[in-house]
Amino acid sequence: MNRNDASQAPKTPATFHVKSFGCQMNVYDGERMAEMLGARGMTPAEGAEADLVILNTCHIREKAVDRVYSDIGRMTRDDGTRPMIAVAGCVAQAEGSEISRRAKTVDIVVGPQAYHRLPDLIEKAGRGEEAVDTDMPAASKFAALPGRTKQARPTAFLTIMEGCDKFCTYCVVPYTRGAEISRSWTAILDEAKALVDGGVKEITLLGQNVNAWTGDDDRGRAQGMDGLVRELAKIEALHRIRYTTSHPNDMSDGLIAAHGEIDKLMPFLHLPVQSGNDRILKAMNRSHDVSSYLRIIERVRAARPDIAVSGDFIVGFPGETDAEFEDTLKIVEQVRYAQCYSFKYSPRPGTPAADMDGQIPAEVMDDRLARLQAVINRHQVDFNTATVGRRADILLERKGRYPGQLIGKTPWLQSVHVTAPELSIGDMLEVDIVSAGPNSLAGEPSRRKAA
Ligand code: SAH
Ligand code: SF4
Ligand code: F3S
Repeated sequence: MNRNDASQAPKTPATFHVKSFGCQMNVYDGERMAEMLGARGMTPAEGAEADLVILNTCHIREKAVDRVYSDIGRMTRDDGTRPMIAVAGCVAQAEGSEISRRAKTVDIVVGPQAYHRLPDLIEKAGRGEEAVDTDMPAASKFAALPGRTKQARPTAFLTIMEGCDKFCTYCVVPYTRGAEISRSWTAILDEAKALVDGGVKEITLLGQNVNAWTGDDDRGRAQGMDGLVRELAKIEALHRIRYTTSHPNDMSDGLIAAHGEIDKLMPFLHLPVQSGNDRILKAMNRSHDVSSYLRIIERVRAARPDIAVSGDFIVGFPGETDAEFEDTLKIVEQVRYAQCYSFKYSPRPGTPAADMDGQIPAEVMDDRLARLQAVINRHQVDFNTATVGRRADILLERKGRYPGQLIGKTPWLQSVHVTAPELSIGDMLEVDIVSAGPNSLAGEPSRRKAA
């Protein structure tokens, strides 16, 4: 590593700042890093004023990677000094020491499975040594991390499995996060209890294919995610359980049934399909087709009729014709998602699709994305409008813009603005939904619920 201007960075950082890009798992990892550094006596600080800045990066699309390099460039302070800079996350895993060649001010590169070793890497960097760790050690990082501290918010993420064995032809995740590994039953339950003891009321279970989680319970019986959810639901002070992201092929009968049986499991399912065309799904190596996907949605809706379904879509996968794109509009019309994420295909180095014939021109992708998003937005408004006049429990998560205003989420993950000056963040409240916009709802308290 070229350490030419390392003299401008602090040798023994006392303060830190973590900035996370990308998915919820990065948010979770960022929190664990912050808790670990906190446990070692370091204190949080703002932006480039911190002695150590950790950029917890995402490699999923080219744009996400560009943002990281522009951020690194902006770290130098007015007086010419700069923080110690660590690049963590999926760009770190994918590019390794290449990062510090491209951006000379990067002191540490640490992958998503090695960040428990950050303290050593900080010391190394302080001594001016190369500090790159993109190992995927057999022993889990989780065992080396300190326990969860009291949380500032009433909602928390909890990684229960990590990695992906599916190898969709467009996707970097199997390379950046490694193979699917489930955390143990006890580790998950212990962490959930610690979070709840620290005031958390809603836990979102995380995994790249979260519903592929498997493990043995404390009596040695094989369990799937539905068993785990059932056990978590026994934690009395835990009010709500969510999970993301699930894969259609891992939607077990037990998990589908759980949606109709476990009150604490929220009626929301993020189940990406990516395309509405079977030839494209095959080229994507998605290992499900349109009809098997629709069948799952049908069964989930039979188990829990009010469930809100969300999805992910990619437009402009190599070779996608106009007619094949139209099939994507069709599946969106059929499913009527409550919300969706949609992306232009981004060729990723090392993935099979990047070398496929028929890469789609940018203008065509722009046009397809705009048409898809128009349909998705219409359905999202429809979904929100349909909740007007309904009564819903919300968990108050943050303050609104006006005095006495609080914002909470419905079971269907919609944000609700409500004026309730006597209540606080973390309270549950029953509201009547009085109006709806594309991105949020307004509610009025119906009556105070025991929190
Ligand atoms: N494991 C999840 C998705 C993880 S990535 C699943 O299989 O559903 C989140 C989303 O990013 C994907 O669902 C996909 O829609 C999108 N995505 C992944 N790779 C992409 C690429 N190369 N270009 C554009 N979008 C991509
Ligand atoms: Fe990527 Fe496919 Fe794995 Fe999802 S299932 S993380 S899209 S390879
Ligand atoms: Fe991005 Fe890695 Fe998550 S590539 S989406 S941060 S798993």
